[in-house]
Amino acid sequence: MLSRRFHAPLAALVAVSAARFLLASPLQAIPDPANADELTGGATTVWADGKNAFSFPATNLSDEERTRFAIGNSFFKRNWVQAPASTKVRDGLGPHFISRSCGGCHVLDGRGAPPEIKGGKNAQPTEMLIRLSVPGSAHPHDGVLPEPTYGDQFNNAAVEGVKPEGQVRIRTTPVRGRFADGTPYVLQQPHYSLTDLGYGPLAAGVMLSPRVAPQLMGIGLIEAIPETEVLANAQAQAAQPGAIKGQVNRVWDAPSQQMVLGRFGWKANTGSIAHQSAGAFRGDIGITSPWAAQEACTPAQPDCLAAGHGGHGDAFEIDQKTLEDVVFYQAVLAPVARRKPADPQVLRGQALFAQAQCVSCHRPSYTTAEPALAKLLPQVSSPMLVGQTIWPYTDLLLHDMGPALADGRPDFAASGSQWKTPPLWGVGLIKQVNGHQRLLHDGRANGVLEAVLWHGGEADAAKNSVRKLSKRDRAALVAFVESL
Ligand code: HEC
Ligand code: HEC
Repeated sequence: MLSRRFHAPLAALVAVSAARFLLASPLQAIPDPANADELTGGATTVWADGKNAFSFPATNLSDEERTRFAIGNSFFKRNWVQAPASTKVRDGLGPHFISRSCGGCHVLDGRGAPPEIKGGKNAQPTEMLIRLSVPGSAHPHDGVLPEPTYGDQFNNAAVEGVKPEGQVRIRTTPVRGRFADGTPYVLQQPHYSLTDLGYGPLAAGVMLSPRVAPQLMGIGLIEAIPETEVLANAQAQAAQPGAIKGQVNRVWDAPSQQMVLGRFGWKANTGSIAHQSAGAFRGDIGITSPWAAQEACTPAQPDCLAAGHGGHGDAFEIDQKTLEDVVFYQAVLAPVARRKPADPQVLRGQALFAQAQCVSCHRPSYTTAEPALAKLLPQVSSPMLVGQTIWPYTDLLLHDMGPALADGRPDFAASGSQWKTPPLWGVGLIKQVNGHQRLLHDGRANGVLEAVLWHGGEADAAKNSVRKLSKRDRAALVAFVESL
């Protein structure tokens, strides 16, 4: 099973390149200058579609880098097991966890979905998590004050002999609205609560932040966007009239031991793929590493603290080198070329995207430079990611998106109503890869148009101009976003 999953993307890659070789002359790979943005990731771009579209390595990697990609891939997808097990290289699951593998949430390197709700009852979430904290001043390295009994994340699964932290309950209420042409729409507002609590009541004032797993396409290039460009985005927005005033997040980065610009996570709450990955191994799967050394058990969880550890008897359940391979694997996941960038409907949508001010936050393009962390740890990135003209459609800034989207839970410098502008590249492929199109931080939106209708706060004017579009123009706007 493992080897089949592990080889599938590489086999598909051969198929894709062979198909391109046969069907398209190599010249077609050179974009029309009018459509330079077809190559979403510059020379790293792949042409792909279907289920494995998010799983290819950057096109310009060396053979040696491809081998590392394959090794990192195997550790990203493999299931971890409870310790002690005969296999020391992949035991140590839990004690508390949500998923047994990274790929369990980032399904096919893609987007997670919230659980289905049937007859008013939801299945337990498997592709999302709920962050927890309480009000009060946090340690600057944590960014939040963890809930004293349950920590900074709610884990609804546990190994044998340990209690799960509880269950997540989700219910939704309809929010009705109309486009200017009279067409009605209904959005579903989710409400979250935690039940069947394993360790007693939650602290008063506990704050919950539900978040789905984002697709990982192109994240190494996001890491390589020069910080000066992100600061310039904030300055440009501050200088403009109007409500759009993005702010940077500043977060603690364990691998480089310093405060850095936040880039990853729905609130730009982590600054490097390395930090995010170590945090995910510990927080989501229960695997300790040199950058996240302690199991996420709190003093109020004696069974969790007493549970067995995995690995070879040394301190960590995943060693530094393997962790770096997983980080490298994600850093070089290739952006996929745009589909039909010159289609008239897509071009119409592109014009509307600019007119509606979507571009103020979803900034189209950058040229990459060497990531700051790669200067300290070159093994977590690739020189092939540097100097590329990329088209991610984000300013990497935090924006107040209004009360309907607010989680009310600050995260480092992000307030309870701010979210980072997510990159839009790849959004049109989520349906093919993951079989759904649930968007926004908690997957509440079904498709691009619903995602826009949830925009509020600083994006209120953008949303209102979309509400005034004709049916045909709405379809064009969606076609453009789905071509990215
Ligand atoms: C329980 C589901 C879950 C599991 C398991 C999981 N992730 Fe994630 N991942 C998420 C969520 C949710 C986010 C967004 C986090 C946030 O906003 O704080 C995320 C974000 C990320 C990001 C940042 C992407 C971006 O563009 O913001 C990286 C990198 C990442 N995860 C890597 C990993 C790795 C490596 C593993 C395995 C060790 C892993 N994840 C396991 C749910 C998961
Ligand atoms: C003020 C900044 C801002 C403006 C203007 C803006 N957006 Fe966004 N956009 C965001 C933020 C922030 C989010 C994430 C919100 C969340 O997850 O709760 C987002 C999310 C999205 C998503 C979902 C992406 C995903 O990965 O789930 C889509 C699609 C989108 N925006 C499209 C648009 C379009 C189209 C416009 C113009 C009509 C637009 N946005 C205008 C900031 C903005």
